Amino acid sequence: MSGRPAILFVCLGNICRSPLAEAAFRLAAERAGLDVAVDSAGTGSWHVGEPPDPRAVAVARAHGLDIADYRGRQVEPADFARFDHVVALDHANLSRLRALRPEGAQARLSLLLDHVPGRAGEAVADPYYGGPEGFDTTWADVTSGARALVRRIAEGG
Ligand code: 4NP
Repeated sequence: MSGRPAILFVCLGNICRSPLAEAAFRLAAERAGLDVAVDSAGTGSWHVGEPPDPRAVAVARAHGLDIADYRGRQVEPADFARFDHVVALDHANLSRLRALRPEGAQARLSLLLDHVPGRAGEAVADPYYGGPEGFDTTWADVTSGARALVRRIAEGG
């Protein structure tokens, strides 16, 4: 882990929340002039190799971002060496990551909304089983988290 900061966003399926977090973070970092490596992954394996959920693609597109080429992958132990920050979207995935993290790994683990003042400990709710409006909430949450995390990394944290 040297050079530019590397950040991995992790949800369950890697087709709804974490791809949106990845896209929002890429945009926020670009706007801040921050050079970063960014990826996303799921703790589950159901959607490996699949594109994001069409509702996630649509909400990203509504905000000017194209995530249709993203593909699902499952988080793996080597990710804890590749990334400086491994950022979970909710508590269940944070617990899975803690269990998966190799002894002595340097990557910092957090919840995305821990980085947002006043929202520490909050989860980004899973929109998968709900209607399309849930994805607007997801977008708002991941955008807040992404901007706050960019600020923190830009300040050296
Ligand atoms: P994500 O949403 O974790 O935000 O990508 C889900 C996607 C798929 C499933 C659950 C949540 N699933 O059960 O297949």
